[in-house]
Amino acid sequence: MSLTILGIESSCDDTAAAIIRDGNILSSIVSNQDVHKEFGGVVPELAARAHQQNIIPVVDLAIKRAKVAIPEINAIAFTRGPGLLGSLLVGTSFSKGFALSQDIPLIEVNHLQAHVLAHFIKVKGKKMRFPKFPFLCLLVSGGHTQLIIVRNYLNMETIGRTIDDAAGEAFDKCAKIMGLPYPGGPHIDKAAKGGNPKAYIFTKPKVKNLDFSFSGLKTAFLYFLRDKVKKNPDFIEMNLANLSASIQQTIIEILLEKLIEATELTGIKEIGIAGGVSANSCLREKMLAESQKRNWKLFIPEFRFATDNAAMIAITGYYKFRQSQFAGLDISPVARLNI
Ligand code: KG4
Ligand code: ZN
Repeated sequence: MSLTILGIESSCDDTAAAIIRDGNILSSIVSNQDVHKEFGGVVPELAARAHQQNIIPVVDLAIKRAKVAIPEINAIAFTRGPGLLGSLLVGTSFSKGFALSQDIPLIEVNHLQAHVLAHFIKVKGKKMRFPKFPFLCLLVSGGHTQLIIVRNYLNMETIGRTIDDAAGEAFDKCAKIMGLPYPGGPHIDKAAKGGNPKAYIFTKPKVKNLDFSFSGLKTAFLYFLRDKVKKNPDFIEMNLANLSASIQQTIIEILLEKLIEATELTGIKEIGIAGGVSANSCLREKMLAESQKRNWKLFIPEFRFATDNAAMIAITGYYKFRQSQFAGLDISPVARLNI
């Protein structure tokens, strides 16, 4: 029997719906919320309201693009957490209503687990490679920075995590300090092209075990620029490429040093990378170079499945359905949730 899953994602500021049939993507719709741009970060109240406005048109479009009839949908999977509670409530409530009205199972999904399982989304007509278990996944997004051992689809263990800011947050905050728009990661990536990554040296944090820290770097960057701008108000404008390349290089070195340590500790050479920061061109180049040097097998999901999307929720729902892991209609979202 073929299995068709509708996935719903609403944990932060993207309202998304996707349909997956037997692991193959049929449609994936993501509606970004421009409303946050002028605030330089996500405003939770506005995010929840925008989800409320977007969710029905987004789901409707996902169903139409997939060319499936609603009765063909076998289950609905939704992000239970972690995320912004108001945002999560919209996706959760919608999914419960849908499950109840269609008399189909409801599946709760951990957003972090879903980022990892994005590696297994199949695209028809595309030659695919999938990581073999166990693999090591570096999850780097605006909200999370984790090193995860993936033993099986639904068996994962976090072996390192950030003790303060996430890597994407570091990109976004440093970009904001330089006056770049939100989210700043892609702007730093672009501005860094042609810049010298060794123009400015920023101290890397010393953190125990496989954990990460980025808040000290952001503060050091702020103070460094405050002094420079005092002497020359055009300092940032005149040195944007070098500043971007240097801060990007530092963030990437912090990530790579811990990833290399994790591969040495675990002996795992199958490596995945997930989350929005995996789009960073310099991080991709450096990961590829390390893979060649260290004999890793590297897996990077398509960009549309690396940033927040609902296809990753639907694929997780697919694996949970196969294990009959269903949720009751009394389930509620949670802001904090570990793998
Ligand atoms: O996974 P994602 O879409 O959402 C979260 O779950 O957070 O990740 C968004 C993060 C933002 O911090 C954004 O600045 C960062 O991913 N990002 C990048 C790039 N593209 C997106 N960071 C660095 N370079 C990029 N090219
Ligand atoms: Zn995410």
